[in-house]
Amino acid sequence: MFHVTVKDTYDEVSAEAFKVMKEVMYGDHTPVLGLATGSSPVGLYKEMIRDHNENGTSYKDILTFNLDEYIGLPRDHRESYWTFMHVNLFNHVDIPDENVHVPLGCGEDPEADCAAYEEELAKHTVDVQVLGIGSDGHIAFNEPGCPFDSVTHVMDLTEQTRQDNARFFDGDINQVPTKACTMGLASIMRAKKIILIATGANKADAVYGMMKGPKTVDCPASILQDHAEVYVFLDKEAASKL
Ligand code: F6R
Repeated sequence: MFHVTVKDTYDEVSAEAFKVMKEVMYGDHTPVLGLATGSSPVGLYKEMIRDHNENGTSYKDILTFNLDEYIGLPRDHRESYWTFMHVNLFNHVDIPDENVHVPLGCGEDPEADCAAYEEELAKHTVDVQVLGIGSDGHIAFNEPGCPFDSVTHVMDLTEQTRQDNARFFDGDINQVPTKACTMGLASIMRAKKIILIATGANKADAVYGMMKGPKTVDCPASILQDHAEVYVFLDKEAASKL
């Protein structure tokens, strides 16, 4: 079930998304958070940092599980998702590093590392999973064609995704890794609630496919049509095809 909020600006979109996050953070138990990287959740993370600074909301006992990581980048690479999460959230709140989980993209055996990540993830219930959406309809790095019953796995990134992400790698697609370790679609669907943030005209087709298109692996995000509680936060451009 989708609950859709459309706002004019990215800051308003982020503030609305934070309302759902806040309910979870201030709920009756210490939550497990599923987190995403990329441009979409940065404003939400700013709201979380502000709340930590102004209201003292603590992350001391919170566990986090990130969706994905590039394969082949060391953790300290400036564009690894490990680095992204520390720069955009973890370094600004009081979360101990041992509570942070980001798939390992730089190990000897990525398949085994994915299996180990899924095993750890499956021990917990994610209270809220933050998602962006790719212009090709991917969520996490589950690209078109990825089976709906997938769990954490190695995925080949599409040309479209590598092109979209080249902006983080000096605009050079050749620097963008070709594979990622990603939570699967079935792993994501286990989360109790989902916050999905999408802004900009280049997301309009994917957002339409997710909500109004057929449920098909051609648009991986369309699996969310089967989820009980998905909060979708959009700007007018991303919502323009609905
Ligand atoms: C990132 C992730 C991806 C992004 C998607 C949108 O952890 O899993 O699915 O959410 O590629 O990226 P942005 O937000 O940069 O447009």
